Amino acid sequence: MKGIILAGGGGTRLYPITKGISKQLLPLYDKPMIYYPLSVLMLSGIKEILIISNIEYIENYKRIFKDGNELGLKIKYAIQKEPKGLAEAFIIGENFIKDKNVCLVLGDNVFYGHGLINILKNAINNVKNEYKATIFGYYVNDPERYGVVEFNEMGKVISIEEKPKKPKSNYAVVGLYFYPNDVIEKAKSVKPSNRGELEITSINEMYLNENRLKVELFGRGYAWFDTGTHDSLLDAANFIRTIEKRTGLKIASIEEIAYNNGWIDKKQLKKLAKEFEKTEYGKYLMEIVGERE
Ligand code: DAU
Repeated sequence: MKGIILAGGGGTRLYPITKGISKQLLPLYDKPMIYYPLSVLMLSGIKEILIISNIEYIENYKRIFKDGNELGLKIKYAIQKEPKGLAEAFIIGENFIKDKNVCLVLGDNVFYGHGLINILKNAINNVKNEYKATIFGYYVNDPERYGVVEFNEMGKVISIEEKPKKPKSNYAVVGLYFYPNDVIEKAKSVKPSNRGELEITSINEMYLNENRLKVELFGRGYAWFDTGTHDSLLDAANFIRTIEKRTGLKIASIEEIAYNNGWIDKKQLKKLAKEFEKTEYGKYLMEIVGERE
């Protein structure tokens, strides 16, 4: 399975913060926002990743991640000319995805919770074994801001709507999608919505109509943030700070995950840690190496 991180968009909802910087590079406490969705792909075991962003910012991402080799990854880059919608990721990424299945994660989504790795691995297996799409629902108090899933009494999904004025449930669709390879063809057939975007919700509806959509729920123990507003940005940062301070463990440390996955060795982790020597983040990595002075 390959992975795509969509890190473009106008960022206008975060103006003036994002007038000069890509939203997904904004800090979420101690690391850039994109570390969080990247960590989700890495925890899923995905090593081949495409980062999509706007022409004016793509170099910034290249400067951070290069070809990904430092983390045992293979990272490629692509440009989205205009924010035409999430579904365009699969059209832009067609040559990258080739004949593989694909996971899309939005560059501004943060996930945290016990058992996340199992949920991710199950999703990959669903796609592989059953050739079904797997998406996730999360109970929120403001579903009208999101894609919303409707269930019948048996718990079966009966509809998905994008930003409905009258949401049929409180379950928002989170920005993490696992698809079989035919998502590319489906994306090509999506027509712009009323708000002029190629909606990912249209793709999910297609899978639903074919009875090929699984919607897993992230339960109460999970935290999911989409950092689309000034408040949610700060909420996510505060949450991360609180958990990290309390446990002494870092959320979304991509260097640590690469090491734990066996994708880089101790020597390489030490090299990466040295780069951040002056920060708590670097000291944390040194501790993992076993050499904190
Ligand atoms: O966060 C989950 C929600 O994401 C889902 O519940 C919705 O179904 C889905 O449509 C999407 O809604 P948003 O309104 O949050 O999407 P937004 O326009 O904010 O875009 C999400 C991220 O993707 C954001 O970081 C910007 C980036 N993006 C967006 C568009 C439309 C792109 O890179 N390119 C684009 O064309």
